[in-house]
Amino acid sequence: MPPLAGRVAIVTGAGRGLGRAHALLLAELGAAVVVNDLGGDVHGSGRDTAPAHQVVEEIRAAGGQAVADGHDVADWAGAAALIDLAVGAFGDLHVLVNNAGILRDRTLARMSEAEWDAVLRVHLKGHAAPTAHALAYWRKRAADGPIVDSSVVHTTSVAAFAGNVGQANYGSAKMAMLALSRCVSLEAGRYGVRSNAVSPGARTRITSGLAVPEVADGEFDAADPGNVSPLIAWLARADCPADGQVFHASGEEILVVDMPRVAARLRTDGRWTQDALDRTLPDRLTVPPGLTDFFGEAAS
Ligand SMILES: NC(=O)c1ccc[n+]([C@@H]2O[C@H](COP(=O)([O-])OP(=O)(O)OC[C@H]3O[C@@H](n4cnc5c(N)ncnc54)[C@H](O)[C@@H]3O)[C@@H](O)[C@H]2O)c1
Repeated sequence: MPPLAGRVAIVTGAGRGLGRAHALLLAELGAAVVVNDLGGDVHGSGRDTAPAHQVVEEIRAAGGQAVADGHDVADWAGAAALIDLAVGAFGDLHVLVNNAGILRDRTLARMSEAEWDAVLRVHLKGHAAPTAHALAYWRKRAADGPIVDSSVVHTTSVAAFAGNVGQANYGSAKMAMLALSRCVSLEAGRYGVRSNAVSPGARTRITSGLAVPEVADGEFDAADPGNVSPLIAWLARADCPADGQVFHASGEEILVVDMPRVAARLRTDGRWTQDALDRTLPDRLTVPPGLTDFFGEAAS
């Protein structure tokens, strides 16, 4: 029996890039998949449902089950319609992979309000809105019958962990995914929902500006978005134990990322004075990890 047989999954932003790879693998492993994609450009302008329909065709041609959806995931009512479509088409819902995203890169000093709002809207509200409606569905299902394992996967980024010049809007939204994921675990665990966050690394139109090494024929392509999808499929499985976790996945590697933890606990007598702070804090400040530190620090 394929590991995702009988599971119904939604993948947002699945018309191309990472979402497409996730949708193809989930379907190959037996899930019925709703391929959501608004089909705009990398900045979020325009609309075209052709990419979502193409992925559905690919899945069906390979013998899988899929339907397309063109709703904007950051529209509260559109997100509700997306959940309804999954349940209407396949009779249930078990997996929500929040993946849709856009970029409006600019340093914060030069960023417009519209650039800030667009990125926060698509990423943060676009993760929260489908999740809210999926949770409402799962909460009701548990009240009416047995508790069934359900899984939400949120897409975060190294831009959250290490920051990135020109991505204050994006990095802030991606850091918020960790809080969103954790709150979902705490709120919805009692009715069978697990929630995890994955930071991917892959060659897509979002990373087209970055240098990616050429791959010779027959060599492993470390930048292929499909390398991230096995972890997404594992998190989607009914027997997966992961909950409240954060991962980074790229190429052949998976990093298990810790949530922020207390690095030092300092005390004074009564209220802190400026002198006491001067004496105590400078020696205990931490060094925020840069990109190299973030990857370099990972223990194998
Ligand atoms: N590629 C990487 O290395 C990388 C790194 C870190 C995080 N990410 C994240 O992975 C996710 C997928 O990105 P990608 O690299 O595959 O980029 P991509 O541009 O190829 O795919 C994103 C998809 O989301 C869709 N989308 C955008 N806004 C939408 C909306 N409002 N409603 C529905 N669909 C919408 C787009 O049409 C597009 O098909 C994003 O959340 C991105 O931030 C990617």
